[in-house]
Amino acid sequence: MQANLTDQVIIVTGAAGAIGRAAADSLLANGARVVYADINLQGAREASRNRPNTLAVQLDITDENQIGEGLDLILGQWGRVDILVNNAGVNTMTHRVNIDQFPTAEWERILKVDLTGLFLLSRAVSRRMLQQKSGRIINIASVLGIVPARLQSPFVAAKAGVIALTRSMAIELGSQGILVNCIAPGSIMTEGTQKLFYGKDGKFNDRVQAMLAHIPLGRPGMVEEIANTILFFCAPESSYINGAILPVDGGWLAGYIRDF
Ligand SMILES: NC(=O)c1ccc[n+]([C@@H]2O[C@H](COP(=O)([O-])OP(=O)(O)OC[C@H]3O[C@@H](n4cnc5c(N)ncnc54)[C@H](O)[C@@H]3O)[C@@H](O)[C@H]2O)c1
Repeated sequence: MQANLTDQVIIVTGAAGAIGRAAADSLLANGARVVYADINLQGAREASRNRPNTLAVQLDITDENQIGEGLDLILGQWGRVDILVNNAGVNTMTHRVNIDQFPTAEWERILKVDLTGLFLLSRAVSRRMLQQKSGRIINIASVLGIVPARLQSPFVAAKAGVIALTRSMAIELGSQGILVNCIAPGSIMTEGTQKLFYGKDGKFNDRVQAMLAHIPLGRPGMVEEIANTILFFCAPESSYINGAILPVDGGWLAGYIRDF
């Protein structure tokens, strides 16, 4: 997919990670000036590899001071922010347990990044977009924010919150020329999900087969397939889409693949 994003200033959070990096690279290839933002500065630097029209910024989205400093840096360099891609997120790897066993600290860690951090950065960036009277915000949620899975209650709650917050921002900011939309990825093949359940050799184990049996396409998504959808929401042609929640999930949410 291609879009003309010439000179658009786009912040991608979590750009040192799998989906963020693929999205940032694709936006860059389509003419944008791209901020590779991540809590992991070294990773952001490595991802942007000092290419022209990129800026690597250390930006912990839960830290209001870093948000302020990061935005100052971006505005000092390019003077505006046209699009924010809220992609940074975490899930629990170590505590896949039922709600009655779920530790408070792990609940708070996930909510703080996935929901509060997304709010804090969106609030700061929207102030700038309101001055510009234009902008776009693209939030990355998850299918689990629409239909939960067991043993990851804070992730489910946070991503459901991201979906609700998308709609809340869309109705508040739309009249000011700012479009806010959300992508809900299904299961995407990344280094993280490979470690968690997809084998590196591409051979899926029984546990994964059970999950893939919910997906009509019968395979995980690729990071480029999420990056393409982000590009679609950034494209000038998507000018009448506001408050949309788009699953990119191979049909996961379309229904049960079971016979009754
Ligand atoms: N991979 C999947 O299957 C999948 C499925 C559904 C939704 N998602 C969502 O897509 C997004 C990206 O996922 P991914 O698979 O690329 O994950 P990833 O772990 O590869 O990347 C996440 C990035 O976020 C960064 N990050 C973490 N905390 C941060 C903070 N406080 N401030 C700034 N950056 C921070 C990490 O350093 C990392 O670079 C996440 O929001 C995730 O919930 C992923």
